[in-house]
Amino acid sequence: QPGWPGVIAAYAGRIELPDGAVPVTLHEGGTPLVAAPHLSELSGCRVYLKVEGANPTGSFKDRGMTVAMTYALASGVAGVICASTGNTSASAAAYAARAGLNCAVLVPSGKIAKGKLAQAVVYGARILQVDGNFDDCLELARKTSTEYPIELVNSVNPVRLVGQQSAAWEVCDVLGRAPDIHCLPVGNAGNITAYWSGYRAYARDGVIAALPRMFGFQAAGAAPLVHGSPVKNPDTIATAIRVGDPASWTGAISARDESNGLIDAVTDDQILAAYHLLARREGVFVEPASATSIAGLLVTAADGRIPAGSVVVCTVTGHGLKDPDTVLAEMPEVEAIPVEPHAVAAALELA
Ligand code: F0G
Repeated sequence: QPGWPGVIAAYAGRIELPDGAVPVTLHEGGTPLVAAPHLSELSGCRVYLKVEGANPTGSFKDRGMTVAMTYALASGVAGVICASTGNTSASAAAYAARAGLNCAVLVPSGKIAKGKLAQAVVYGARILQVDGNFDDCLELARKTSTEYPIELVNSVNPVRLVGQQSAAWEVCDVLGRAPDIHCLPVGNAGNITAYWSGYRAYARDGVIAALPRMFGFQAAGAAPLVHGSPVKNPDTIATAIRVGDPASWTGAISARDESNGLIDAVTDDQILAAYHLLARREGVFVEPASATSIAGLLVTAADGRIPAGSVVVCTVTGHGLKDPDTVLAEMPEVEAIPVEPHAVAAALELA
């Protein structure tokens, strides 16, 4: 198989599989680490973006799903189930299709972005809307999977986080070191837990000399880790991180405290400003939740919590096309012109 082999093969020594398991892969991972000159100038740091929208289903979830689906297939179950704000369901649907397994996804009614719903549909998953939020969906998926023969592929399944560590390893492999600070959006808190675990594994093995500080950012309307208690009715434009009671709560707090990091909240306005800035100044189109890490970077650089000159990696977790409505809702009507060069020239005010 030519080219990047996917995270299981790329990190074969670090990701254990059951005996005889055949990897279920779409060649996820190996995503670009893109220098961000405009953000670097604004923050006074050396900023890089880990562009996870470049994964096969357009989000970082594929890194964990390849491992979870490989285990599920090897275990002989007929199907998998997950709860999702959209990206986990898109990823589970794709990898289940690849594995030849049935896939059921539980999503909060009316609260998942259109592109993500389209993905679950096209990959052939069974989609069930739940009259509740993500936290209700996750509890329902957990209960169903303990009572019936169906495998849970949410990040409460520990093998998901094993695979998601690969993003931290890739950052170090490309930079030749860990960053000083790593900024991430935080929802159910699996990803910040996985990154921290990945960095620690590399430090333990002497691959990196120093660990990064982990900076996690939640949306202000869905910031249970910042408040220190669950949020009953989480709300934010960043639907992917609309989570009120994160499953990996203790993992996120450990990542924060052990790394001398922080977990803070940013407002929807700050998220949207970062979202537009990232597209217009860096040429990187992400979904709103992903811009949370950028909003957090700008706030903490401006108020002095990030030392000038730091090497900072911001993970942008999902592709912008997943949520076209966020852009289209604000878009003025597209200008119509006749098929005439002078009409183009007049519209563009060319001399
Ligand atoms: N960014 C995106 C685009 C996400 O989809 C998620 C989580 C996160 C960030 C937060 O990561 O949960 O590990 O802290 N999405 C989950 C889902 C909840 O169902 O797709 P986390």
